[in-house]
Amino acid sequence: MSAKIGFIGAGKMASAMIGGIISNGLYTKDEVVACAPSDSTRSEVAAKYGIRTYRTAAEVAEITDFLVLAVKPVQLRGLFAEEGLRINGSHLVMSIVAGVKIADLEAYVPDSKIVRVMPNHCCLVGEGAAGYSRGTKATDADVEKVRKVLSSSGMAEEVKESDLDAVTGLAGSSPAFMYMVIDAMADGGVLCGIPREKAIKLAAQSMLGSAKMVLETGEHPDKLKDIVCSPGGTTIEGVRVLEDSCVRSAFIAAVEASTLKSREMGRK
Ligand SMILES: NC(=O)c1ccc[n+]([C@@H]2O[C@H](COP(=O)([O-])OP(=O)(O)OC[C@H]3O[C@@H](n4cnc5c(N)ncnc54)[C@H](OP(=O)(O)O)[C@@H]3O)[C@@H](O)[C@H]2O)c1
Repeated sequence: MSAKIGFIGAGKMASAMIGGIISNGLYTKDEVVACAPSDSTRSEVAAKYGIRTYRTAAEVAEITDFLVLAVKPVQLRGLFAEEGLRINGSHLVMSIVAGVKIADLEAYVPDSKIVRVMPNHCCLVGEGAAGYSRGTKATDADVEKVRKVLSSSGMAEEVKESDLDAVTGLAGSSPAFMYMVIDAMADGGVLCGIPREKAIKLAAQSMLGSAKMVLETGEHPDKLKDIVCSPGGTTIEGVRVLEDSCVRSAFIAAVEASTLKSREMGRK
């Protein structure tokens, strides 16, 4: 029986995407398949989503022409060199394998259409932020298929492949930065007397609400900040402390450092 989309690898990222696709009605559970070598992973994903699972990638590639490569970078060579996976010109391959360039993927599968994606782990809760770049043979229709998959677990922007390292710095790494902000804000709340558990919830919801304000109003973040700062009020006092502490520069440098590290790893 054929399928509309097949995941090669059924780990954390694949599982999150499968959940998004099915819950948003992009494909039904009968149209989604996945493979993983271990029995436990296959049983888990089959039980969770009711999809068909297979042991090998070759079985998945036989029944669908839309493949999501979701194995670890070190597992990629084994797929093609050891298992002899064959992917042909009719296949669209969406790769989420971190750091593996389109040219390297095209060396493995010269005829197929490739879209390389850099997702972030917030797709686990349907709020991912991904960047993607098309390979030489991918058409607009192929890219649209990939965009729909990514949109079912968050949002996605097409970028030049050379900018995917910056997407890694900005969106791939930044959940860690945001968790640090939430934790630090919660510390501030605790210092001022709020119990830890409540402080974490209030800090996290404030970040979520602020992010929604930016995305849903379309206003520049600086303008929203100005709206919240009433003259001589409480908020501008806090803003002054953040400016004194060079917080903006620290975030700019953090995104740049992660981007540079991603570039360096890509060269290796
Ligand atoms: N996690 C993130 O936040 C994140 C962010 C951006 C990009 N990525 C990229 O996303 C990819 C997947 O990451 P992940 O966190 O989901 O990893 P993961 O949880 O370790 O999942 C990898 C999956 O690949 C399967 N696999 C291994 N060898 C295979 C083979 N020969 N054929 C078929 N399946 C095979 C594994 O099967 P078993 O379970 O049976 O071992 C496992 O289900 C990685 O390339 C990573 O770089 C991850």
